[in-house]
Parts: sequence; C-alpha cells; structure tokens
Amino acid sequence: VIDIRKLYGQAGVFTYDPGFTSTASCDSTITYIDGEKGELLHRGYPIDQLAEKSHFLEVCYLLLYGELPTAAQLEDFEERVTRHTMLHEQMMYLFRGYRRDAHPMAIMVGVVGALSAFYHDSTDISDPWQREVASIRMIAKMPTIAAMAFKYTLGQPFVYPRNDLDYASNFMRMCFAVPAEDYEVNPILSRAMDRIFTLHADHEQNASTSTVRLASSSGANPFACIAAGIACLWGPAHGGANQACLEMLREIGSVERIPEYIARAKDKDDDFRLMGFGHRVYKNFDPRAKVMKQSADEVLELLGIEDNPTLQVAKALEKAALEDDYFVEKKLFPNVDFYSGIILEAMGFPTSMFTPIFAVSRTIGWISQWKEMISDPQLKIGRPRQLYHGETLRDYVDIENR
Ligand code: ACO
Repeated sequence: VIDIRKLYGQAGVFTYDPGFTSTASCDSTITYIDGEKGELLHRGYPIDQLAEKSHFLEVCYLLLYGELPTAAQLEDFEERVTRHTMLHEQMMYLFRGYRRDAHPMAIMVGVVGALSAFYHDSTDISDPWQREVASIRMIAKMPTIAAMAFKYTLGQPFVYPRNDLDYASNFMRMCFAVPAEDYEVNPILSRAMDRIFTLHADHEQNASTSTVRLASSSGANPFACIAAGIACLWGPAHGGANQACLEMLREIGSVERIPEYIARAKDKDDDFRLMGFGHRVYKNFDPRAKVMKQSADEVLELLGIEDNPTLQVAKALEKAALEDDYFVEKKLFPNVDFYSGIILEAMGFPTSMFTPIFAVSRTIGWISQWKEMISDPQLKIGRPRQLYHGETLRDYVDIENR
C-alpha cells in the first residue's frame, strides 16, 4: 500500500497490485474457487458433480438464473435457445470478407462484435427483456459462429444448425457434416464435447471475464463486450493455452525429449514454459483437469488410438512434471487445457479450433457475469488507477533546440 498523498497530493490510500493477484474487482454469487483445496463450485454445486450428472444447457440455466431448473423450466430454456441458433443470412457476407487462412478466433471477434449491428432489439441494456434476449442469443449463436468460422477456413459450405439435436451434437454436426452426406454424431463424442463445454463454462474473474465486466461497465452493448472477452481469451496465457499446449506436445514429439523441455521450463534465462501447467488460482490439482483426464481416456479408448504419440508424450510429461521438485514446490499442476487439447485432437479438430471451442463454452460465464454486473444498482464504470513514474512537469522544447 502506497500513500499517494506524496505522489499526487490527494487524500486516501492507493493499492498497487499488478495482475490483480490480491484485489477483488467485484462481488459475485456465481462461482466459487478454493485454489488451495482445488475446489470449484457453480452456485454452490461442485464442478465434478455437474460434469457427471448434469449437461451444458442445464449448467447454463444454473449460472444464468442461480438455481437448477425444473423439468418444465429446462424444456422452456432449451426451446428458447434452439429458436435463436440461426444467424442473420446477411452475416454470411461477413465471413466471406475474411481471408481463408484467417484464424477462426479472428473471425469470431469480428462476427460477434457485428451481432450488435444485426440485433438492435437486444442492445438496450436498460430493458430487462432485451437483456434476456441478448443472453439467449449469445448462448445460441456462438456454436453456429464458431462452426461457420471453421467451415470457412476449410473452404467447405456452411452447415446450418439442426434444432432437434442437443447443443453439443448440433455443434459437432455443424463442424463435421458435409452437405449431401449423412452425418451421425457419436453419442460418446457428443457427451465428451458437452463435458468440455460444461467444464469451461465459468471461472469467476479470469482475464476474459474481467475484460467483459470492464467493457460492460461503460454501458457498452453485450455483443461488443463479449467480442472484447473473445479477444482476451485468445492469448496463450489464457484460452490460447490449449492450442499452445498441443503444439508443444507435438514439438516435443517423443518421450525421450521430455527432460530437455523440463530443463528449459526451469531455466530462468529461457522464456519457455510448459503450456497446460500452472494456474493463477489453483495451487492444487485443477478439479476440471481431473474430469477432463478421465474423459480423454474414454475418447481415446473409443477411437482406438491409445497409442497416439501425442498422448504418450502428454502422459509421460505429466508424470515427469509431477515428480520434479521445481513443479512440486511451485505447485504447477496440469490444468484443464492440458487434457482438453488431446480430446479435441482425437475428435478431429485442428489446433486453431481449440480456443474457439473454449469461447463457445465460456460465453455463458461471460453472459452470466455481465448480467449480474449490470443488474447491480451500485454499478460504477471500471476505472483503474495507475502508479505514475514518468517525467515530472517540464516545459515544451522547440524542435530546433532538441
Ligand atoms: N512452466 C514453468 N514454470 C512456470 C509455469 C509453467 N507453465 N507456470 C508458472 N511457472 C513459474 C514461473 O516462472 C514463476 O517462477 P518464479 O517464482 O521462479 O519466478 C512461478 O512459477 C509463478 O508463475 P507466475 O507467472 O508468477 O504465475 P501466474 O499466476 O502469474 O501465472 C499462468 C499463471 C499464466 C497460468 C502460468 O502458470 C502459465 O503461464 N502457465 C502456462 C500457460 C497455461 O497453461 N495457461 C492456461 C491457464 S488455465 C486457463 O486459462 C483455462
């Protein structure tokens, strides 16, 4: 704590906390994390129970409205979500404006931001009905946008949503079906996809959620705020870690090279970090990683690719890091992204789709936190202070005298 009266001549105390390691930016009733115990609760329910017994849309309802739905409430909610899965047909031109080799995240940032240009009837945040419609639209349209971004980069025709399918199956079909060919989603793969969505649904004030909250504190419309969250998620220290992790596993290539990479991760003169290891809050095993690890085993067994070299490297790396003093002392455990990448690769997604899938999942967290924030009568614009240590007052110097 620094007394800024000396610096600024103002009254009051000034906390300097780079990276917000010990500063709460808001109060919330949505998600609780105990990083020491490795516990994650949504509205009080443990994530492992939700991953095992619930499914993504039910968890969306829970996060958004605070309670588990009755059967009738769930049916109504699912009906409302599926009614909004289509995109305005004119939005197709937006996709076509991108280069074919664009990263799907780049497309998603743009297309989600552009939703506010197409759905004017849900941008007035002072109207509770418009807020509700915006929330449902975001949950419904994100899988369509991510799948279309994927299809576009493949050069394949877009596949329209099928509203008789569940959320995860519909998404997988939009990604993998080719028009004129039958496509059946394997229920085990669809369940694994639903788990990925569920496990990534919310994680309290992570960087992208804090970005959404900061953007929305100015009263910006929800689509613009979610676009800001997607941009933040893209970074390799956050949602981009799943792509970076799989690329690292491929680069390691064989179990024999693991010691070399562990040594690099420990070397303070080398910027390299083991991607998929460590977490700002968890100083114990990430509870999502436990479920994801089990899911990865199931998927690989189903697809008959237990011998996948990437998985072998992943398993050996996990073991080596968990036995290494550096990782043990610093409490650097594999995080959720370590295992989700393996599942997604086994399903046939390229690494560039890993973070877009994370964005589809996290949309409900962003929307729930946004809704909670703008409903707060004490809402204030987010306006962090700074610790200035630049030049003090000085006179302008004419160019000929510099
Ligand atoms: N490999 C090697 N060393 C690491 C790693 C790692 N993955 N992560 C942290 N460390 C070391 C740091 O070098 C630092 O060492 P020091 O104390 O000797 O300086 C110490 O552990 C603490 O690291 P910080 O960067 O201060 O921890 P922070 O909480 O700021 O960072 C983060 C957390 C960003 C997740 C970090 O662990 C990391 O970069 N991990 C790899 C990227 C990753 O997997 N991100 C996904 C996060 S989960 C998610 O978004 C769903």
